Amino acid sequence: MTDAVRLELQGEIALITVNNPPVNALGHAVREGLLQAFQSAEADSQVRAVVLACEGSTFIAGADIKEFGKPPQAPSLPEVIEAIEGSTKPSVAVIHGTALGGGLEVALGCHYRIARKDAKVGLPEVKLGLLPGAGGTQRLPRLAGVEKALDMIVSGTPISAAEAVEHHIVDELFEGDLREAGLAYARRLVDEGRGPRRTGEQTQGLEGVDNEALIRAKHAEVAKRMPGLFSPLRCIAAVEAATKLPLAEGLKRERELFAECLNSPQRGALIHSFFSERQAGKINDLPADVKPRTINMAAVIGGGTMGVGIAMSFANAGVPVKLLEINDEALQRGLQRARDTYAASVKRGSLTEDTMEQRLALVEGVTDYAALAEADVVVEAVFEEMGVKQQVFEQLDAVCKPGAILASNTSSLDLDAIAAFTKRPEDVVGLHFFSPANVMRLLEVVRGEKTSNEVLATAMAIGKQLKKVSVVVGVCDGFVGNRMVFQYGREAEFLLEEGATPGQVDGALRNFGMAMGPFAMRDLSGLDIGQAIRKRQRATLPAHLDFPTVSDKLCAAGMLGQKTGAGYYRYEPGNRTPLENPELVPMLEAASQEKGIQRKALDEQYIVERCIFALVNEGAKILEEGIAQRSSDIDVIYLNGYGFPAFRGGPMFYADSVGLDTVLARVKELHARCGDWWKPAPLLEKLAAEGRTFTEWQAGQ
Ligand code: 3HC
Ligand code: NAI
Repeated sequence: MTDAVRLELQGEIALITVNNPPVNALGHAVREGLLQAFQSAEADSQVRAVVLACEGSTFIAGADIKEFGKPPQAPSLPEVIEAIEGSTKPSVAVIHGTALGGGLEVALGCHYRIARKDAKVGLPEVKLGLLPGAGGTQRLPRLAGVEKALDMIVSGTPISAAEAVEHHIVDELFEGDLREAGLAYARRLVDEGRGPRRTGEQTQGLEGVDNEALIRAKHAEVAKRMPGLFSPLRCIAAVEAATKLPLAEGLKRERELFAECLNSPQRGALIHSFFSERQAGKINDLPADVKPRTINMAAVIGGGTMGVGIAMSFANAGVPVKLLEINDEALQRGLQRARDTYAASVKRGSLTEDTMEQRLALVEGVTDYAALAEADVVVEAVFEEMGVKQQVFEQLDAVCKPGAILASNTSSLDLDAIAAFTKRPEDVVGLHFFSPANVMRLLEVVRGEKTSNEVLATAMAIGKQLKKVSVVVGVCDGFVGNRMVFQYGREAEFLLEEGATPGQVDGALRNFGMAMGPFAMRDLSGLDIGQAIRKRQRATLPAHLDFPTVSDKLCAAGMLGQKTGAGYYRYEPGNRTPLENPELVPMLEAASQEKGIQRKALDEQYIVERCIFALVNEGAKILEEGIAQRSSDIDVIYLNGYGFPAFRGGPMFYADSVGLDTVLARVKELHARCGDWWKPAPLLEKLAAEGRTFTEWQAGQ
């Protein structure tokens, strides 16, 4: 046995316990330990049944992701599971926490499964660019049927233990002690004379339905909803094999398809995304003994677009929140917006009416600052004007209790200047939510010059409480996300002057994998936002930097995007589908003519490089300035806030995979042709010269 797996005898029952913190992943030691333990139990004539349970907070959460890409070490997981399933003594898996991926596959290899009521089971491999490679695609459909198996394997979303019982994946639910429940179940098996019931020998899930039709339908769904993704189609092919081939051949086909996924570049990118998200929560220079403050009550100032969404985020997490507006009329508008947004979720079926009322009851509207005296955190989301922020922070300083966190949701103003409006700048931090704040997962936590460690740790803890992905950023115009997107949007617009249409640019970037093109995005958020930013930047940036002018022309014509029915595109009333805007055509021609540009057709690769490498070059500057802690943090921001395709790992990982020398060569060409916006970032030049990547530089820091 290994340290990670223990075998003990409880009378006639062999109890096998896995102990491999934090999530009992199936690393080499666990695989070896499991094989030995099951073999010992099989060989021991005293043993009549086997219980498999786990220590810690969860059942096995899958293969050890850190081992992918390294040389495989025997025994492989399929071998271990084959030995478990082949055993002549009945075995029961006792599931608590989450049985995920290889963890569920091990449980499916056991002959029976019981789960604690609050447990979840799932096959999330597709989210890592993989498919269940240890029999999951062959065994799950045999129990749950092809439709449910396809749903679980292609979406990767776990299901509750109760649902798992409904679909014959789990036999019984239990409450209380794991070992007691497992041993009691095993004793019942022995008493009732029930022997092994091997999942691989079951067929009920495969019978009596038109499996081919289900597979065709899933293909159509994947083509529509997951274009460009490599592993979902292989997931379907593996399940299809289960419907057509005997177990042994189906398992072989699954292994081949798994190997294809393992070798695909998307796997590397998606696993990078997984670890980057977890890494982002760690702050390099924060002493380990810093403890976050407790948050029992929140407040939000400003009940506009952002304020309402932020208040809803607190309510969704069960935190009572006071929403403050300038007057009762504005307040009622804000509260109504929260109600309408929840009501839309109820209508869609994603929320019950009871939950809606519970959440709304947590949001208390107020107009008097005195009501904020007990708040543990206050998030300001008023107009983006320094004067207004000053008024608000001075009042907060006067009324809030000592130790309250004073946060600003500003997207571009200087947080240090805002902090200076108070006598407690160490308690001020930026909490930069993304719109719609109740939906978007990203939270940029802006660390001011004077923000204390404790406040920073609390801000990260708030992010966790609100189920956000929090990333620490430093103070600069636009922080990380918007500072980079400004470069991206500007280059997209220069492409319009060179000859492209918004539809071509958006289409090229969507084909690259972006959730939305830059022009559809701008139409959605409103062109006046960008206009205000450009106005501010024109006042401070060197005069020789040229700005594109199409957006200004649209603004001058009152075409501000969806809210005015036209912008880069035209919209029919009540319909968000972008249609060609004929009034844009003369503006494009005029913009080109004013700069003496001969309009010409642009190819897709050029469009993509021009926009994406603009992100990368700025990202490199951000990294070198220390505005982001690590290149993977920039990736997390782009994956969670800007619709960057997860299968490309984020802009910095994508640049690494293209090769920084190639990226630099393009940046230099663009610098020579398009001017100083494209001045190569010194870090990009340095790494390209050294043949290193952003990821390697990060690791070497
Ligand atoms: N392998 C290695 N490390 C893992 C891991 C895994 N499968 N799952 C989680 N970890 C690590 C995390 O990186 C993190 O490490 P850190 O503390 O050093 O940052 C630590 O475990 C805790 O993880 P979380 O912060 O995510 O903890 P949570 O409690 O929030 O969530 C979880 C726990 C739901 C298990 C979540 O970690 C998760 O979803 N893990 C991935 C599960 C998965 O994808 N399994 C399938 C793997 S592929 C597979 O099994 C292939 C097979 O079919 C052959
Ligand atoms: P908004 O204009 O929709 O809402 C602002 C609200 O603040 C209004 O309802 C107004 O009545 C209220 N308000 C103004 N002065 C106030 C005061 N002194 N006290 C109390 N309430 C006051 O603006 P929006 O879009 O919600 O933006 C708010 C802040 O969030 C800004 O700093 C903005 O830069 C930032 N932000 C905006 C994002 C967006 O996509 N709209 C994204 C991220 C941040």
